[in-house]
Amino acid sequence: MDAKKVLEIASLLISKKNLNDLINEILFSIRELVNADAGSIYLYDDEKDELTFKYTQNDSLDISFNEFTIPVDENSIAGYCALNKEAFTIDDVYKIPDNYPFKFNNDFDVLSGYRTKSMLLIPIFDAKNNLISVLQLINKKVVSFGEKVRDFENEVISFSSEDLELVKSLSGIIGVSLENSILYENIENMFEGFIKASVQAVESRDPITKGHTERVYRITHKIIEEMDKDEEFFPDFKMRDIDWKILKYATLLHDFGKIGVREAVLMKPKKLYDDQFEKLKMKARLYACVNNLTKEEYQDLLNDLIRANEPSLLESELSEKIDKYYKVKFKDCYGEELELLDDNEYKQLSVKKGTLTNEERKEIESHVLHTYEYLNKIPWTKELKEVPKIACLHHEKLDGSGYPFGLKSEEIHIFGKVMAVADIFDALTAKDRPYKRAVPIDIALKIIKEEADKEKLDKKIVEFFITKKIYNMV
Ligand SMILES: [Fe+2]
Ligand SMILES: [Fe+2]
Repeated sequence: MDAKKVLEIASLLISKKNLNDLINEILFSIRELVNADAGSIYLYDDEKDELTFKYTQNDSLDISFNEFTIPVDENSIAGYCALNKEAFTIDDVYKIPDNYPFKFNNDFDVLSGYRTKSMLLIPIFDAKNNLISVLQLINKKVVSFGEKVRDFENEVISFSSEDLELVKSLSGIIGVSLENSILYENIENMFEGFIKASVQAVESRDPITKGHTERVYRITHKIIEEMDKDEEFFPDFKMRDIDWKILKYATLLHDFGKIGVREAVLMKPKKLYDDQFEKLKMKARLYACVNNLTKEEYQDLLNDLIRANEPSLLESELSEKIDKYYKVKFKDCYGEELELLDDNEYKQLSVKKGTLTNEERKEIESHVLHTYEYLNKIPWTKELKEVPKIACLHHEKLDGSGYPFGLKSEEIHIFGKVMAVADIFDALTAKDRPYKRAVPIDIALKIIKEEADKEKLDKKIVEFFITKKIYNMV
């Protein structure tokens, strides 16, 4: 029976990748194997030479615990086990002989009313035989596994030498599973660090939208979390564990491609770039001089150019003036012919709303394609391979009028549809854009609803976002 059980545990442990899940499983399976009432796992940090109390289970007590560290020395039971790298049992921790170097610290028992009695300690090694953990089993009991111990004196017995051998026989597989899991977690942490650095890199190029990525992530995550819970609104929507990771990476990297867009275009507060506008003012002054314009006439011309350069709506009266100025040619004092407005200046000042020409708008829009291309260079695992595609869906519209692919509703992943709502909501309500005032929430919701009515955004998601007031939950 034991051999079969040991094999079962071994295959179960190998299948767990997540460190917390694995630790939980190790404790549960090994406790069950030797019928231990409680157990704890310490992880060893070789750089600091200390043990971190990582997890504990106890059938008799409902306990919450905090992580803490202890030095690897002879003063504590776990520290002694780590230092001497040997497994041992103790029949009763309150009766440790005086000639033993360690003492039992009974703080936990005093606080909780628990009675720790027998113990089994085993060091766990990685494949290279380096210590990585200490496993501590507490109180072998005579009552069934899972049942509470009520009478510690009579229901708790000592761990036997067979128990010790049984746990030892599994320590190799525990070590390898823990090592893999820690490695996996380290790689994941490293990757998350890379994502954080990427977000910072994007936002430091475009400080105007600072915080946008993080906010879009929080809003998207909240909407999805609520959708996952709400069986009435979304009966068929269920998140798998891996989906949360896909969602996180795709959302945090959704604007990563902005790294490939020129900074001047990303942060264009006026229709003309500063150096262009300075040059235009000089030309206007020269034009006024050679044509003997009065000071007032010159000032009027200058005011028109300043007004037209603003991102606000270009009124038709001003637009006509700009058309007129475009045709003006004049000669400087040396007879060289000049245009008051050249083709580029005219094109830029004629922008009806905002500051971007069509070419510049296309360049900004290209950020999603850059996102796709850059993220595709990452060798994603099979489970995460959809991240690049999902990351670049946030500007697609349900009716096919979005970019970069012009996808229709049924072709857009649900995460993309939710991200689109979060992205627009944040763009409208963000308070940190100096040239654009934040839109009040009720107006922003109205705009989003109109977009849904026009088949641009997903109606059900928008309705859910508004009626559940998810914007207030983040
Ligand atoms: Fe975007
Ligand atoms: Fe965005």
